[in-house]
Amino acid sequence: MAQRPEPEPIAVRHPPGAARGRYWRLPNSAAALARMGPWLTGRDRTLARRHRLPRRRQAFLLATALLRYALAEHLGTGRRALPLQRRSQRRPRIRAMRWAEQLSLSVAHTDQWVLAGLLPGGRRLGLDLEAATRSISPAVARRLPWPQGALQPSLLQGWTLVEAALKADGRGIPALAQLRLVGADGGGWRFRCGDWLLRGAAIPGLSGHPRPVAAIAIADQHFPKVASTP
Ligand SMILES: CC(C)(COP(=O)(O)OP(=O)(O)OC[C@H]1O[C@@H](n2cnc3c(N)ncnc32)[C@H](O)[C@@H]1OP(=O)(O)O)[C@@H](O)C(=O)NCCC(=O)NCCS
Repeated sequence: MAQRPEPEPIAVRHPPGAARGRYWRLPNSAAALARMGPWLTGRDRTLARRHRLPRRRQAFLLATALLRYALAEHLGTGRRALPLQRRSQRRPRIRAMRWAEQLSLSVAHTDQWVLAGLLPGGRRLGLDLEAATRSISPAVARRLPWPQGALQPSLLQGWTLVEAALKADGRGIPALAQLRLVGADGGGWRFRCGDWLLRGAAIPGLSGHPRPVAAIAIADQHFPKVASTP
């Protein structure tokens, strides 16, 4: 059955203790791009040209349109061009913050789906999404931070939790060597990465073929700086 080309709100169970955000997904399809076209600017379309693969280009445009839709829904501003900044290998952000609240934005995409969300309150959001058919190589599996024998998610779910955490951290893959699992609570996981404490959780129950596997992470607080002793 064809997926409806409309933004679909996604219910996300937040990691314990984390702030609450809002999340939507769209099919990564030509029909969705036609439906969401009015949310895009000429500059968005120019920026999209840096992606050579048509599906990747489409995902970039849909993620941009979905972020604008999410911002307009959250801020009640209607469909006018919101000053969204899309940067290569960085999180999206709002260019000019004229609103009182700080919003953190995150997107993830596969060949089938685009997921976007926003988190108020000054904490940092990371989302990740993979198709259940994706395989995880032994080399990648070895880099996941769950110790052997410990309660752990499936390999693919673990990878989405790691990527969501690396996006919430903001450095992406280069920060993987610093990512440590520090605990589990109420269905979520706690990580430390450099100065950040990160809370991650699976986003279960997403429909689709292949089934999407997704995760959220929120960079919750800075570790307090310890005063150096003279
Ligand atoms: C961000 C990262 C962790 C994941 O990216 P990814 O899985 O390739 O792609 P996703 O669809 O999940 O996410 C892409 C989005 O993440 C965001 N993003 C990219 N770098 C980011 C960063 N450093 N911090 C926060 N968000 C970031 C962007 O918004 C990007 O979307 P856009 O290009 O449309 O703007 C990336 O650092 C990366 O390097 N991935 C490499 C994947 C890899 O090595 N896989 C091999 C293991 S099997």
